[in-house]
Amino acid sequence: MSVVRQVPNPAGHAMPSSPVQRLPREAYISSEWFERERRNLFGRTWTWAGLAGDLPEPGDYTTVAAGDYALVVLRDEGGALRAFHNLCRHRGTELLEGTGRLDAAHITCPYHRWTYGLDGALRAVPLRAKCFPGLDTAHYSLLPAALGEFKGMAFVHPDPGADFSEWRADLESVAWPHRFERMRVGPEITYEMRCNWKVFFENAIDGYHLAYLHDRSLGGPRADRNVQDVHGRHLVWYSTETGRKTCMPLAVAKAMGHQSGNAANEVWSGEYGGVFMLFPSTIVTASPSELTVSRLVGVTADVSRLSTRVWQHDDGGWKWLRRADRPEDLPGYDPESGVLRLSHLEQHPRETGDFQWEDVWVCEKMQRSLHSPAYRIGQLAAGAGAEAPLEIFQRNVLDFVGGRDTQS
Ligand code: FES
Ligand SMILES: [Fe+2]
Repeated sequence: MSVVRQVPNPAGHAMPSSPVQRLPREAYISSEWFERERRNLFGRTWTWAGLAGDLPEPGDYTTVAAGDYALVVLRDEGGALRAFHNLCRHRGTELLEGTGRLDAAHITCPYHRWTYGLDGALRAVPLRAKCFPGLDTAHYSLLPAALGEFKGMAFVHPDPGADFSEWRADLESVAWPHRFERMRVGPEITYEMRCNWKVFFENAIDGYHLAYLHDRSLGGPRADRNVQDVHGRHLVWYSTETGRKTCMPLAVAKAMGHQSGNAANEVWSGEYGGVFMLFPSTIVTASPSELTVSRLVGVTADVSRLSTRVWQHDDGGWKWLRRADRPEDLPGYDPESGVLRLSHLEQHPRETGDFQWEDVWVCEKMQRSLHSPAYRIGQLAAGAGAEAPLEIFQRNVLDFVGGRDTQS
């Protein structure tokens, strides 16, 4: 498989001093645009598949969608992780579902039982001599995909020739110091939001809103005391209020209820980014006690899902709001679909004290506005800690998706 066309600006874009909105309104509401994103963006970049440590044994696998592509990551008999397209080479049936461990060291298609090794080679074909005389099994291995690992996280790309180091850029030099294997992980929690995935992404890189929408939940960190740095196509958020770059302002540490006596010292000593926005769909939030990894998936132009897992150090230092052993115990849980929804929240989001609900609430409000023909962007707030990162994100999207740029 070859890349359809080269994506321009692989090194990303510089922070603009006077940011402007680049994406047109239709980018957030049109199904046609959404389909183009699935094909040209999510089908041509890296998607987080899970932790390498989630698949410790040969035969452990997980499936993941990258735009329209269905992929599977598995641990082979030699202990290496591999990625394949999750398609049988006979007539294309989906091979594996969800996450699990294979009973034996092979993958068997349920339809007509073609069987593959964990290296992807076709090993067995029922009635081969009669039904497929002359079949050269060497031509029917599973289609390979690309796999990249970063800090214990496995990423996949549908194109086996994709360049992971180009995407990773220089993130290694600024990444969080935590080790997943030394932390305890909670359950995966999924929010389903009635907004385009980019509305949520843009909210997450908008440092201007923190002081206002989240004045109660996060203690109001100001945009002129934050900064976001560009690393390739990724953005990394820091607090600068101490004069050093740290992962979190004191107000946030207090709002999140740090329990230990030297809370401030611990928080300031986190000299790494607090939020890593890995383009286009992986969000890592780091604090001295925790790592949160979220995967953002567009379901339709108007609906997205955010699936989140939290890893904690076993120090019991944090009394965080969205912690529960079971998602069912969380506010907003919809038992029919197993996801959290604003419509199932009994309180007003501003009353929850949970910034995530405040974000979901405002993103859904933005999405409703985007459907009005009168919708206009006024101006984006200048500043690398304010709204300038939105232009970078939008230019990255346009590099992949193309289409009309509002500024040209
Ligand atoms: S489609 Fe898989 S064996 Fe036929
Ligand atoms: Fe927010």
